[in-house]
Amino acid sequence: TWTSTNIIEEQVAAIREQVGDKQVICGLSGGVDSAVAAALVHKAVGDQLTCIFVDHGLLRAGEAEQVEKDYVAATGIRLKVVDAADSFLGHLAGVTDPEQKRKIIGREFIRTFEAAARELDAERHIEFLVQGTLYPDVVESGGGTGTANIKSHHNVGGLPDDLQFALIEPLRTLFKDEVRALGTELGLPDEMVHRHPFPGPGLAIRIIGAVDRERLDLLRAADLIAREELTAAGLDRDVWQFPVVLLADVRSVGVQGDGRSYGHPVVLRPVSSEDAMTADWSRLPYDVIAKISTRITNEVREVNRVVLDVTSKPPGTIEWE
Ligand code: XMP
Repeated sequence: TWTSTNIIEEQVAAIREQVGDKQVICGLSGGVDSAVAAALVHKAVGDQLTCIFVDHGLLRAGEAEQVEKDYVAATGIRLKVVDAADSFLGHLAGVTDPEQKRKIIGREFIRTFEAAARELDAERHIEFLVQGTLYPDVVESGGGTGTANIKSHHNVGGLPDDLQFALIEPLRTLFKDEVRALGTELGLPDEMVHRHPFPGPGLAIRIIGAVDRERLDLLRAADLIAREELTAAGLDRDVWQFPVVLLADVRSVGVQGDGRSYGHPVVLRPVSSEDAMTADWSRLPYDVIAKISTRITNEVREVNRVVLDVTSKPPGTIEWE
C-alpha cells in the first residue's frame, strides 16, 4: 500500500544501493521537486550529497533565504550557494522579448551550474546527479504535446560531454501530491512543500519590458502583498498559481496623496487549474482582491493601478510571457 513512509524507505534503500560510497550533486531551484529529491538522497547517503543553489536574482521575496536557511536547517544538507544575480541581470539588460529572456536565463543557468559542478568535481570526484523528475514529466517528454511547444522551458540538463553524471531520479514514479506528502514526512518547511508552481525564468517573465533591479524590487513588493493576503484569507490551496505581473513600460495617470501620479499598473493573475495545460481565472472573493489592491497602491509607491486578468487558458496562457 502507498504510504509516504514506505516510499521513503524503499527509495532510501534503492539510492544507497545505486550510489555506494560515491559522491552526488543536486541543483536546488527553490521548488518542491528538487527539494524533496535532495532530501531523500540526503537521508540515504548523508554528506556524500552536495547541493548547488544558483541564485539568479529572479526569485520572489524570501525564496532564496528559504533555501539557504530554512531548508538547510531542516535537512542538514551541505549547500553551495552561487550568487549569480549580477551576471544574470547584466545579460538580461535591455532585453524585452520573452523567448530571448528565456534563452538567456536558460543558457546562463546551465553555464553557472556547470562551473559550480566542475569546482565540486575537482574537490571530490562526482559520479551522480539528482533530478526531481516526476511521473508527468516522464510521460510528457515521451512525446507529449503541450505548453512546452509554445514557450520554451528550461531545466538543468544539457551538461557537456566531459561532465556527464549518472542520474538519480527518486521521484520518477510519483505525482505532485505524493511528492508533497513525502516532503512533509521528511520535515521540509511547509512554505516549500506547498509552494505554488513557479517558472524557472522567475520574475523576469512577469516584468513586461526590460528587467532591472528596481523593477524586480517593485514586483517583489507587490507579489509579496498578494501572497500574504491570499494566505491570510486561507485561500492558498484554492488557486493553482497567482502570478503578479508588472507592466513596466505602461504608465497611467492617477491621484495619490495630494498630487497627480504617473505610475505603473500591476496585473493580478490568479488561476485555477489541474495541470497547467488549461486554466480558468479564479473567482477570488472581491474583498480579498480589494485588500490586495489597496495595500499594493498604498505600499508600493510606483504602482498606482491594479487590474485583474479574467482570461481563461486558452486563449490566454497562465504567464504573460
Ligand atoms: P503558461 O504560461 O504556458 O504556463 O500557461 C504553464 C505553466 O508553466 C510555467 N512556465 C514555465 N516553467 N520555465 C518553467 O520552468 C518556463 O519558461 C515557464 N513558462 C511558463 C507556468 O508558471 C505555468 O505553471
